Amino acid sequence: MKSGLTILGAALAVAASSLLLSCSSGTRDNSDKTALEVIHSRKSVRHYTDGKVSDEQLLTLAKAGMAAPSAKNAQPWQIMAVTDRAKLDSLGTALPYTKMIFEAPAALVVCGDMTLALEGASRDYWVQDCSAATQNILLAAEAIGLGAVWNGIYPVTERVNDVRRILSLPDYVIPLSVIVVGQPAGVETPKVKWDEKKYHINEW
Ligand SMILES: Cc1cc2nc3c(=O)[nH]c(=O)nc-3n(C[C@H](O)[C@H](O)[C@H](O)COP(=O)(O)O)c2cc1C
Repeated sequence: MKSGLTILGAALAVAASSLLLSCSSGTRDNSDKTALEVIHSRKSVRHYTDGKVSDEQLLTLAKAGMAAPSAKNAQPWQIMAVTDRAKLDSLGTALPYTKMIFEAPAALVVCGDMTLALEGASRDYWVQDCSAATQNILLAAEAIGLGAVWNGIYPVTERVNDVRRILSLPDYVIPLSVIVVGQPAGVETPKVKWDEKKYHINEW
């Protein structure tokens, strides 16, 4: 229930920021959608047109990411926008399940900053915090009419090392996700996932 409320809260923030965006730019967006409509229409988008993603749009997505909740409000994230074609292609070459990046104009890399992570047993909350930021970015992309897909990096050591090397990340920074972003070609549709067998009321 708590995570449901968290996602709803994030989506409300996203919907508000998309309304702001629609006032300030001429980009296509879905700002007439309610928060719940954005949640249910989000899907992984791996096919893009030749259209660009603006710096303003990337900033909107990064701001949505950093609006995420985090344990003790530690905000242990760093987000890198990548638009450099050579770097995008290097990521695509290194990462086995990220080939859609060759078609895309941009990516956002959500990283955990271990100098900001909690100490002791709470340290690994950075993974959940950065996952919440990643989901916020996916919802924001849907809200402003972009297509995006989460590519998992941490905890696969080889992928972490490859992303660190390609983006020259410091060793206290761990990349959690590469979110590939572009103008959607319109191929993908949301999957229906609701399963009443996985919903429990008071008893298992
Ligand atoms: C932790 C995580 C890692 C993922 N890694 C990849 C990936 O490396 N490549 C990819 O194409 N999709 C990746 N995905 C996207 C999933 O394949 C996708 O979310 C799933 O198939 C459900 O489809 P939907 O996003 O359209 O609802 C990842 C998703 C998550 C949550």
